[in-house]
Amino acid sequence: MRISGSLTFAGDKSISHRALMLAALTDGECVVRNPARGQDLEATRRCLVACGIESAWEGNSIRIIGGTLINPASDLDCGNSGTTARLLLGLLAGQAIKAHFTGDESLSRRPMDRVNAPLTRMGAKIESTQGRLPLTLHSRQLAGITYRPPVASAQVKSAILLAGLGAGGTTSVIENLPTRDHTEKMLITLGAPIEITESLMAVQKLKGKLPTFEITVPGDPSTAAFFAAAAAGLPGSELILKQVSLNPRRIGLYSVLERMGASVVYRQTDQILGEPAGDIEIKSRPLQGVALTAKDIPGMIDELPALAVLATQAEGVTEIRGARELRVKETDRIAALCENLKLLGAQVKEYADGLTITGPTPLKGESVRSFGDHRIAMAFKIAGLYSIGAVSIDDSDCIKISEPEFDDLLNRVLKRSI
Ligand code: S3P
Repeated sequence: MRISGSLTFAGDKSISHRALMLAALTDGECVVRNPARGQDLEATRRCLVACGIESAWEGNSIRIIGGTLINPASDLDCGNSGTTARLLLGLLAGQAIKAHFTGDESLSRRPMDRVNAPLTRMGAKIESTQGRLPLTLHSRQLAGITYRPPVASAQVKSAILLAGLGAGGTTSVIENLPTRDHTEKMLITLGAPIEITESLMAVQKLKGKLPTFEITVPGDPSTAAFFAAAAAGLPGSELILKQVSLNPRRIGLYSVLERMGASVVYRQTDQILGEPAGDIEIKSRPLQGVALTAKDIPGMIDELPALAVLATQAEGVTEIRGARELRVKETDRIAALCENLKLLGAQVKEYADGLTITGPTPLKGESVRSFGDHRIAMAFKIAGLYSIGAVSIDDSDCIKISEPEFDDLLNRVLKRSI
């Protein structure tokens, strides 16, 4: 079995969420082409509709009309999406909106206090049970603060910056480690009052509205990463990932594949709303284990399940440490990866902040659980390509959260005969 061919992907999920939220702050019609297709983005779109921001799918685009945000009459159901809950909480807090946020079972277990705390310091009034969903945001005028998030999180940074667009004075975020910078890049391109100096991002209250915009969202490098891992781990594979985001803060996995020995070539062809985009070509080569520390993690946080599975095919030890944040994703991804990889016969060791995998190991066919987490399900679809027997996943429907067409994409490039 090998991978051969090229694939294009639906738009990056992080950029798509931000495009819809920023469109809400314009005073006219914006077009988001090639947005993310999964349920997470739909959650953001529906929540914005509940807040008076009309939008509609037209083919492969969303047309969205910015204007005045209103207090939603119904709950804002964020579904499974942490980005929806956290960024929207910041955006709406800045606009003095009153709203009740809910989420599914997984999202209701995830920490919201990381955004509640700085927003409360800005003057927001948020009622929640133990810093989790469901929560109620009350209408308050906010004032700027300077905040150094205790965890490396683009969601926290973005929530504060979006709140800062409606807060009096200056709102600054200082990052200890750089995280994805789509919010900042889009705000700069749209001429918003934002300044960036090294690790400090500072926004001022927006006077009036943002200008309307059209964006073609580059393909999602986090979804593409699972196909890249498949190609890197199956000898004789060659795969071109077409028109994906090449934002340097999003392609950590691809540099790690290079460090492990795979051939990775980047060809930048575009710059879209400040975002570099282009093709990535992956060719399989013999792989060695790699050691990752805290500074490597933010650039590939969502791709670590793919890497952990790939590491079973590499020679020697792969160490993923400084990744405690994996414990508060859609599921505890460290525990889920360790449990499933052990079932498949891999040599794995669990740590509070990560895991080590010693390879190469021929994986066994077994039944594993997705824990309702789309990226765990995708990772074990890839494990099934390396395994001797079939890997069955109890619930892979959750893949629809980010990429409903995952199986079709895989079938397009999977060559079963030599
Ligand atoms: C995201 C940031 C990351 C990532 C998530 C999307 C974003 O979360 O895991 O899938 O769009 O800002 P954290 O900020 O919690 O690390």
